Amino acid sequence: MLLHARTLGFAGLLVALGCTEDVTSGTGGAGGAGGAGGAPSASGLPCDVQEILEQRCQSCHSASPKFGAPMPLVTRADLLAAPVANSAATVGEATVARVSDTASPMPPPPSLPLDAAELAVLENYVAAGMPASDENCGGEGGAGGAGGGVTVNCVPDISLKPATPFEMPADEADLYLCFGVEAPSDIARHITAIAPKIDNEKILHHILFLQSPEPVIANGEPCNFVNLDWKLVYAWGPGTPALELPQEAGFPLGPNDPGHYVIQIHYNNVQGLVGETDASGIDLCTTTELRPNDADVVAFGGTQFAPLPPNATTETTCSLDVPATVEPFFPVTIFQSWPHMHQLGRKFESVIEKSDGSVVTLADVPNYDFEYQITYPNDNIKLEVGDTVRTTCTWENTTSETANFGEDTADEMCFNFVSYYPRVTASQWHWLLPSASADCQ
Ligand code: HEC
Repeated sequence: MLLHARTLGFAGLLVALGCTEDVTSGTGGAGGAGGAGGAPSASGLPCDVQEILEQRCQSCHSASPKFGAPMPLVTRADLLAAPVANSAATVGEATVARVSDTASPMPPPPSLPLDAAELAVLENYVAAGMPASDENCGGEGGAGGAGGGVTVNCVPDISLKPATPFEMPADEADLYLCFGVEAPSDIARHITAIAPKIDNEKILHHILFLQSPEPVIANGEPCNFVNLDWKLVYAWGPGTPALELPQEAGFPLGPNDPGHYVIQIHYNNVQGLVGETDASGIDLCTTTELRPNDADVVAFGGTQFAPLPPNATTETTCSLDVPATVEPFFPVTIFQSWPHMHQLGRKFESVIEKSDGSVVTLADVPNYDFEYQITYPNDNIKLEVGDTVRTTCTWENTTSETANFGEDTADEMCFNFVSYYPRVTASQWHWLLPSASADCQ
């Protein structure tokens, strides 16, 4: 996770209480416009190519690129241009390479990889030299990009963000920064929804929202890996919905549950844009009419997996039989998963196996990419004593060193952080215990 941030500067924070912005404001842009339809394709691309780019790429690679995407993928001229950050001769060739790159796939998760037919369309077009097309692409028009818009059915009343807007240097392509923020903890509240507050779509790549046992002193310090003292509460990347907690539960915030949080923001400026600033953060809806249950986060997966040999692909499954010691708190209801591996992670799956042999999926990410760590909503999945939680991590160790479990850059992890209720008290079930006591094969 992220590094050693206990050593960092002072807490930058801003808390706006009682703000009255409307329900959807500030939480992201609208989707891209649909294609025009009817007229011959203005893109100069054959319709099948145009359709794939519209549906799978242009939510980021729009005419004015978003979320750190370095270039547009809209017209034939875009495909013929030289890539910004890639040694390929054309963007078209870079495109073919990245759609089948397991280490950093395009489109990134949560989008699924292109299927074989889509891959063949792009590969054949690029191999044919990307000829101009005056095809008429029919009347329907493109669907338009998904955009980063995130809506939430409540009015956020607490807004957490860095004290001063961040200024993106033009000469840094990639930055992971941590900001310590404090949410008001004077009276008991329940957090009922968490949404990203998206400011500058051009450079914002993703946002992690973590809870710390102590105030975190960090005002935009670099932090690549998350400290194991921190629990992941929510993670946003393009395509991720806001988190709305089930009606029966809220994350507690108050004198007994002080709101020490860290917002980790990943910025991407491959285009070298000059003078970009950002004031993105996290919006919370809270209530003082407490819900029946406290929600919490625990990590499934494993910490005891065998070392990952160099130049090899390794798959490990870590299993935990839910122990009878937690009986008083069970069954619990799971409403969110956050798969977490480091840079060698390629594939991730986490399931619950019931005693009758049936299997319920918590998270299935066939194209895991460290750069796109987002939370996946779960539809109130029950976990009972007697169930087995299985987490399967697949790593591709492309280095010449063996990798072990650990917090550092070169170390690896295999976790599924699940959000659930009712909270099992820490003395019964420290949040790391389910993975520390799992059996990994
Ligand atoms: C969720 C946003 C998003 C979507 C969707 C997406 N990309 Fe990207 N793309 C990025 C970002 C961010 C980068 C820059 C970081 C990187 O290279 O990973 C990038 C980089 C690339 C690059 C490398 C360009 C260079 O100069 O190095 C290629 C090629 C690419 N994308 C192709 C595609 C294609 C093709 C699709 C659709 C099939 C697609 N992308 C969908 C966000 C996206």
